[in-house]
Amino acid sequence: MSAPSSAIQSTLVENRVFPPSEETMQGARISGMPAYEALCAEAAQDFEGYWARLARENLIWDKPFTRTLDESNAPFYRWFDDGELNASANCLDRHIGTPTENKTAIIFEADDGSVTKVTYKELLERVSQFANGLKAHGIVKGDRVLIYMPMTIEGVIAMQACARIGATHSVVFGGFSAKAVHERILDVGAVAVITANYQMRGGKELPLKAIIDDALSGGDCVNVRNVFVFERSKSPCAMVAGRDKTFTEMMAGQSSECAPEIVGAEHPLFILYTSGSTGKPKGVQHSTAGYLMWAKQTMEWSFDIRDTDVFWCTADIGWITGHTYVAYGPLAAGATQIIFEGIPTYPNAGRFWQMIERHKCSVFYTAPTAIRSLIKAAEADAAVHPDRSDLTSLRILGSVGEPINPEAWMWYYKNIGGERCPVVDTFWQTENGGHVITPLPGATPLVPGSCTLPLPGIIAQVVDETGAEMPNGDGGILVIKRPWPSMIRTIWGDPERFKKSYFPEELGGTVYLAGDGAVRSADRGYFRITGRIDDVLNVSGHRMGTMEIESALVAKTDLVAEAAVVGRPDDVTGEAICAFVVLKRSRPTGEEAKQIAKELRDWVAKEIGPIAKPKEIRFGDNLPKTRSGKIMRRLLRSIAKGEKITQDISTLENPAILDQLSESN
Ligand code: WT7
Repeated sequence: MSAPSSAIQSTLVENRVFPPSEETMQGARISGMPAYEALCAEAAQDFEGYWARLARENLIWDKPFTRTLDESNAPFYRWFDDGELNASANCLDRHIGTPTENKTAIIFEADDGSVTKVTYKELLERVSQFANGLKAHGIVKGDRVLIYMPMTIEGVIAMQACARIGATHSVVFGGFSAKAVHERILDVGAVAVITANYQMRGGKELPLKAIIDDALSGGDCVNVRNVFVFERSKSPCAMVAGRDKTFTEMMAGQSSECAPEIVGAEHPLFILYTSGSTGKPKGVQHSTAGYLMWAKQTMEWSFDIRDTDVFWCTADIGWITGHTYVAYGPLAAGATQIIFEGIPTYPNAGRFWQMIERHKCSVFYTAPTAIRSLIKAAEADAAVHPDRSDLTSLRILGSVGEPINPEAWMWYYKNIGGERCPVVDTFWQTENGGHVITPLPGATPLVPGSCTLPLPGIIAQVVDETGAEMPNGDGGILVIKRPWPSMIRTIWGDPERFKKSYFPEELGGTVYLAGDGAVRSADRGYFRITGRIDDVLNVSGHRMGTMEIESALVAKTDLVAEAAVVGRPDDVTGEAICAFVVLKRSRPTGEEAKQIAKELRDWVAKEIGPIAKPKEIRFGDNLPKTRSGKIMRRLLRSIAKGEKITQDISTLENPAILDQLSESN
């Protein structure tokens, strides 16, 4: 474990505290701190009883559970494990026969601005028909299905339909390359792929199906029997006879009724790949009951979601945020939500604000990166400033994915929330399933830049390397001492790696290690996340392993001898990827360096995806190494930041290299 990585340096010291207004407290699910504290006390007094109560209240069980938590094989915890249910029934069927059945479930705004709406009843019919189509193609409970879809209603339908028949989905973000998709198809053992012919983003039509064809072209994906293709565009795309079917073909003649497949509470609802500090991406496996319970409960607690709300989470379904707060949570909670296909800057950088006005959005949830880039855009062009839009429908704002710097927090609070709306800075991770540390809009006094306090039942602490709790005010590592229902169950196919990554022996083997540094404030005990303690970068709220990018670079064997990747602070993206490269030929300079850097960037985009492209590439004759040949990354981090080297370099074998790497090529 190394020092916390470089988060954005804040220049604004914001000591103000923003208590909840009377208005937000009024009728809030958790209203006032005593209500929050009462829930924490309930969890402290009867941990299992507390979680059992939530699981009974939030979910509809086909077979009620009698066992709450099984710790006999820790850290492979099992929750509610003799209970049975279906996730899709808990998102859709539960609303049938209630006033919610005719409520709008999804307001879809396409890239070109056209709007489509579906009610809960219509969504259930479409999910059912799709589920029947999957069944007709031999997909059964326990099968894995890879989903590579644009942000559309159909993406959510595909996920819900898998859940309905008990198939485990694995969604891959549409920005990942054919190679990345190929690796995931093999690792997860997918029997089918669900995709679209094209995706529409920023006025452009981008191929998706062609990438799947490429991913499947090696001939080693023998398990994939079918590719189902959503006809997003009228433009043609190649179809492989026997294997590929359009959605229309796949659903032809299928009934719009489909009895949900009842599964055990621990049945894997999905596997979602995320980057770790070493090795290839990890398939994070989530459960059905524990996961879904928390998705719904956090909708109600962190966002205080109400029947009249219009909720909008801007995350893509390819990330965990789009799973929990687009595909599952809002539906389980019976909310109306907005799904947006496009990008925040098309046709102009006022799109988010115009959409909030157009659809009367009341709860808005986005990432600090988006906020920071839209601040820049608004400052540069008054026509896209949020003050041009009527944002008075908003009542709660959320932030997720990376630390939000106090400057961005204040701008969001003032310019978007009109100083009326609480900003909930929700801390969590792919592995957590749902929020773990977050303010509650009707209870928690807010401090800009702090995710404040753990949700009731989440036993978070800041500890040192031996697991001893740090006093408030002192930085340490973030852990969660007790299991919770929506936590990761294992890494697909690699239980040993699961144990090693998240439950290290040094901490006793049963304490969850988040991988972030944190510090609690001296006065309130509020948590502030200081950044990753491993070699994971957070670029625009996307998690990237430095090792993954290094492996991609050295895979360009004709050119690259060695590569080291570090993060450096970036005003907009939080962190930026900086690569130090030693070529097999002499060190290039000037135009030639620029050209090779471009070639390497394109190569990384092909190997992993455009999101992994290094922002900066520096060439050296060598890398700074110790006498035993270990790359000294802390020195590279300083160079990337443009800092003068003040660290001890006595163990450095080749000090002259520092000057060379510090010069720009
Ligand atoms: C990492 C997890 C599930 C959220 C989407 C990203 C960072 C996330 C915050 C926050 C400070 C945050 C952490 C974490 N992170 N939210 N509110 N404040 N840092 O999920 O891709 O699994 O990344 O994102 O470093 O470990 P992810």
